[in-house]
Amino acid sequence: MIKDRSIDCVFADPPFNLGKDYKNGYKDNLDDNEYFRWCYRWLSECARILKPGGALFVYAIPSIAIKFGAFLNDIMTFRHWIALSMKGTYSRGNKLYPAHYALLYYTNGEPKTFNRLRTSIPICRHCGKEIKDYGGHRDKLNPAGLNLTDFWEDTSPNRHRKFKVRPGVNELKITIPERAILISTEEDDIVFDPFGGGGSTYQAAEKNNRYWIGSELYDCNHIKNRLNEEFPLSIGLKPDKLLFDIFVEE
Ligand SMILES: C[S@@+](CC[C@H](N)C(=O)[O-])C[C@H]1O[C@@H](n2cnc3c(N)ncnc32)[C@H](O)[C@@H]1O
Repeated sequence: MIKDRSIDCVFADPPFNLGKDYKNGYKDNLDDNEYFRWCYRWLSECARILKPGGALFVYAIPSIAIKFGAFLNDIMTFRHWIALSMKGTYSRGNKLYPAHYALLYYTNGEPKTFNRLRTSIPICRHCGKEIKDYGGHRDKLNPAGLNLTDFWEDTSPNRHRKFKVRPGVNELKITIPERAILISTEEDDIVFDPFGGGGSTYQAAEKNNRYWIGSELYDCNHIKNRLNEEFPLSIGLKPDKLLFDIFVEE
């Protein structure tokens, strides 16, 4: 079991219970009550293991995120509902066309780390020119880029088959967990992702010199392959002692 107050950042991208075929044996079609009971259990565990000021990010569709938020509001401090532009979907029944996913950002009390990130100035992919004119104040922009807002337009294509690195895995673009990690942690902090999938969070953490731990109930080969490809020199090394210290016998 992971100790209380031992983790700096949790990034969670759970199954959404939409009957999706994860191709790994996971049954994504629980009864709704059972699904949310399970979610509230792991959300509580995330809050328990986070250090004071530690950050929880949860990626979800809005109908699920709103329930997660209602639950988390009682046990953690709300920071942001980050809207991630979603392309390539279709409207269902009498609903509006869904154009965003939610990335909930909560902390255990006041955040212990908050790094302001900047993003590059958006360029038209056809003509290569900047898309906006910034009301004539382009010269006043910080050369390091624009302040990151709570609306991320550049995180798509998220799960389009054509862009997937590992077909068959429901993986996120690495930008998503990477930004969450960079916003809320410093080097040598510990990141936990309970739903490993294709390992995008682990890659983002390793790339940015954060320690990481994770779990995946089903096929871990996608994670292993990713880490082998990205970090061939680190694979097989004994994990740092610090990582053993966060576990305690139940
Ligand atoms: C949406 S995917 C995560 C994708 C990941 N964020 C990425 O970018 O590669 C959710 C994953 O959670 C796994 N999963 C489902 N229930 C789990 C559980 N109880 N413990 C650990 N992993 C679980 C599924 O097998 C699936 O691979």
